[in-house]
Amino acid sequence: MPETGQPFDEGHLPTKLGTDFISAFYRLLRGATLYNRKNDVIERLTQECLQAIHSALKLEGRLSLKIVRDNFFFNNSKIQVNVDQYAILKTFLQEMKNRWIGEVEFTEEVQGEQLKDFVYLLSGLEANNESNYLLLMRHLEQKGIDAITVGKLEVFKDEEVYVDSKEKRQFSKEVFFKSINMVKEVVDSVRHQKLVNIRKAKRLMQNAVNAIAEDESTLLGLANIKNYDEYTFNHSVNVAIYSIAIGQRIGIPKRHLSYLGMAALFHDIGKIRVPREILSKPSRLSPEELALVRYHPIFGVEAVMAMKEWGELSSRMMDAAFEHHLKYDLTGYPKPTRKRKLTLFGRIIAIADFYDTLVRPRGGNRFPYVSEKILGIMLERSGKDFDPALVKVFINMIGVFPLGTLVLLNTNEIGIVVQIQEDSEHLDRPKVNLLHYSNGEYRKGEIVDLREMDEKTGEFKRSIVRTLDPNQYQINVSEFII
Ligand SMILES: [Fe+2]
Ligand SMILES: [Fe+2]
Repeated sequence: MPETGQPFDEGHLPTKLGTDFISAFYRLLRGATLYNRKNDVIERLTQECLQAIHSALKLEGRLSLKIVRDNFFFNNSKIQVNVDQYAILKTFLQEMKNRWIGEVEFTEEVQGEQLKDFVYLLSGLEANNESNYLLLMRHLEQKGIDAITVGKLEVFKDEEVYVDSKEKRQFSKEVFFKSINMVKEVVDSVRHQKLVNIRKAKRLMQNAVNAIAEDESTLLGLANIKNYDEYTFNHSVNVAIYSIAIGQRIGIPKRHLSYLGMAALFHDIGKIRVPREILSKPSRLSPEELALVRYHPIFGVEAVMAMKEWGELSSRMMDAAFEHHLKYDLTGYPKPTRKRKLTLFGRIIAIADFYDTLVRPRGGNRFPYVSEKILGIMLERSGKDFDPALVKVFINMIGVFPLGTLVLLNTNEIGIVVQIQEDSEHLDRPKVNLLHYSNGEYRKGEIVDLREMDEKTGEFKRSIVRTLDPNQYQINVSEFII
């Protein structure tokens, strides 16, 4: 399995390339607010900036800069700031945040005039306009500059007030169900050896990435709903959602996030070659049947190879199919023929897959695990089965009580978890939408924050006593979170 094309490489920290680029780019941006583009100063600053861009492209093959909270990620590595660069990085950060631009990417070398076009467009953007990135992209397209892309600044939960935006949730819901249909379509095409509409799939994944950036909680909530019937399709979409959400939290740039989504969506594509009766067999599998099931990663690689349409994506799709049952210490299956390091995509998808497989009821009467227990298992096996850094990110994301969990509080109220706290100390104190019972049904009440303390007693106002089964209370959780 090729290891090239792995989009995320920790290990080295190209901090110097990153800070060189930022300071040259920042000087040029500031110059653009002071001088017109014919000025000698601009010419000099442009040349300096070009140099920084081109040496990064030469050494790393690409240049992407992304803002995640108050940090810069340069080609996916966090820039370590030292004291003398602090001021300039901080000012630049503010300039970009004012314009709502959170990502800049150069995919190939650009001409001086193109760079000037870009910088003058950027400097001329109005402050506080969330759609600036769209405007800028449109202008770049008109000018035929396709080596530069920009992305929207991402706002994270703790910076944001809890907004109950219907439109956003509608969009998320659409993406979710469209994705399920697309997986069905693709599986169908593969079964009948028809061509797969990859363009459509890619566009959908880009939408999914945007939806998760805007509205992570609805999508995580949808993924947590356990009672959809079509397990396989649903499972694929959930694994994609969890994977994209993990990727987003560790700062993978958008374009690669949609690749990750695609790879996750089709990680189990090899299962189409395992007979359905075996996959849904409630009783124990015979050794032969088990061997066949365990062959699905290899079938997956073969299925991807047979589809020419995946293009540049195919090596990542093969990695995901091959690696998702391999463990961090390389045990698991299938046995790799040589020592290899699992790709980042493989490690992410393995976590998402493990969680989603255990959290929902499957064929027969196998009882699903509660989330708390699964996270416990993952933590215990962190470093052996799973990448320990990613496990931490995942647990923070899911919380001890995942979105959509029905809980009983010590005040005898019941409610549904609607937001996980960002600080890991309070994973057991999410925000909960209280439910009130009246006229024979449960209705949405206020949203309370379980971190709230009672000033008189100095104790928490409300705490979770235990989780409840929504079916027993005839509550359709999805109505409350989407
Ligand atoms: Fe699998
Ligand atoms: Fe799976």
